[in-house]
Amino acid sequence: MAYNDFDTGNHWLPFTPNRHFKKEPRVFVAADGMHFTTHDGRQVVDGISSLWCVGAGHNRKPINEAIKKQLDTLDYATAFNAANDQAFLAAQKIAAMAPGDLNKVLFCNSGSEAADTSMKVALAYHRARGEGHRNIFIGRERGYHGVGFGGMSVGGIPANRKVYGTALLPRVDHMRFIHDPANAYIHNQEPVSQEDYLLELEQRILPLHSPENVAAIIVEPVAGSAGWYLPPKGYLKRLREICDKHGILLIFDEVITGFGRMGTSFGADFYGVVPDMLNFAKCVTNGVIPLGGVICRDKLYDTMMKTDAPEHVIEFFHGYTYSGHPVSCAAAIATLDLYQKEGLFPRAGEMGKVLGDAFHSTFKGLPNVVGIRSLGLAAAVELAPIAGLPGKRAYDIYLDCFRKGALVRPAGDVVVIAPPYVVEKSHIDQLVNTLADSIRQHA
Ligand SMILES: Cc1ncc(COP(=O)(O)O)c(C=O)c1O
Repeated sequence: MAYNDFDTGNHWLPFTPNRHFKKEPRVFVAADGMHFTTHDGRQVVDGISSLWCVGAGHNRKPINEAIKKQLDTLDYATAFNAANDQAFLAAQKIAAMAPGDLNKVLFCNSGSEAADTSMKVALAYHRARGEGHRNIFIGRERGYHGVGFGGMSVGGIPANRKVYGTALLPRVDHMRFIHDPANAYIHNQEPVSQEDYLLELEQRILPLHSPENVAAIIVEPVAGSAGWYLPPKGYLKRLREICDKHGILLIFDEVITGFGRMGTSFGADFYGVVPDMLNFAKCVTNGVIPLGGVICRDKLYDTMMKTDAPEHVIEFFHGYTYSGHPVSCAAAIATLDLYQKEGLFPRAGEMGKVLGDAFHSTFKGLPNVVGIRSLGLAAAVELAPIAGLPGKRAYDIYLDCFRKGALVRPAGDVVVIAPPYVVEKSHIDQLVNTLADSIRQHA
C-alpha cells in the first residue's frame, strides 16, 4: 500500500508529536507474529509488544477464532441489570490466576478506567465501613495510571499533569520516586539500595495527612511508562506492611506487569505481595480488543454487599456500558488459555534474561549511556539528555530505529525494549544491534 492511499488529516494521534508525525508518517497495515508491515511495504519488528499489550505475538488464530465465534453467538448484551456468560467465565479465569483472595473482578475497557474504578472502590469501601473521612490518595512521582482525572491526579509524570491545574483531584500526595542513582546498572535482579525510599512516607507524608484519612496508596510494581524503573528489594513488602498498619488500601496498577511480563502471572506474584486491588488491561486480551479491570479482595466486595439498603438498591454506583463486553471477554479467555498452553509466562522470564544479557553486553560504554536496567521481559537503556532538549535524543533514536525496521519505545531519555513473550534470540539480537547502531549515530 502506498502512503497516499489515505489522508492523515483527520486523525489526531494520541501521545504523539502530530506535527512531526505528519511529515514522516509511520503507519502499520498488517501484523503477524513478531512483525508489522508498514504502509510503504516494510517489515518492522515489534520490540515493545505494541505498548506492552501483545504478549502472544500478533495474529494469533485461537484468539481471532474466539472473537469471530463470539460475534456470531452473542455480539453484545447490556451490562446493567443483566450479564453475559463470557463475562462470568473470564472473571472466573482471571480470579483463579490472581494471588490470595483477589477474587472479585470489576471489568472496564482500559487501564485509565481501571485506575479510576479502583479509586472509586476505595472511597466507597471506606464509606461503607463508616470511614468516609478516608479520602486521600497517595501515588508516586513518575507513576503512570492513565489519563482519567483520577489516574492523572495520582500519576506523577509532570508533562501529563501540568496543564490541568485545579482540575486534578485535590486530596492527593505523592511518594518519592524509587530510582537510586547508585543503582544505574541493574542486570536481571532486584536492586538493593542503602536508601530507605519509604521513610518519607512514614515520617512526613502520613503524619502530615494523618494516616486515618488515607484511602489508598497506588503504585505500579515496576514503573513502566517512566522507563522501567525497578523497586528496591523489599520495598513493596514494606509498603504492604505500612498500609496494613494504618488500614490503608494498597492498589497495584499492573496494566503493564500483569499477565506475564515479569515471568509470573502478575507483578504481585513476582514480588510476593498481595495488594487489596489489582488493576489490569493490555495483555489480558493480547491487545486485540479493549478490556481492563480491577481485581478486588473478597473483603471489599463483602463489605459493599453488607448494606441495610433494600435488595433492589444498587450497592456500587459505577460501571461502563461495555463492562464485561462478551467479545472482549471471549478474547480474554482465549488469550489466557493460549498463554497457559504455550507456557508463555515462564518463557517471558527466560527470554527476559537473554534480553538483559544482550542489553548489558551491548550498550555498556556506548556514548551517552548512563544506565541500563533489566528485569522481567523488559529492559531500558538510559541516555544523557541533549542540553536544553530533554527527550530529543531518545526520540531521534526511536525514529532512526523505526527507519531501520525496529520498533522501540522512547520514554524521556530512556529507550525501552519489551518484546512479545514469543520473541526469539534472533529478534533480540536485531533489536539490540539496531538500537546500538542508532545510539552510536546519535552520539
Ligand atoms: C501502569 C499503567 N496504568 C494505566 C495505563 C493506562 O492504560 P490505558 O492507556 O489503557 O488507559 C497504562 C498505560 O500504559 C499503564 O502503563
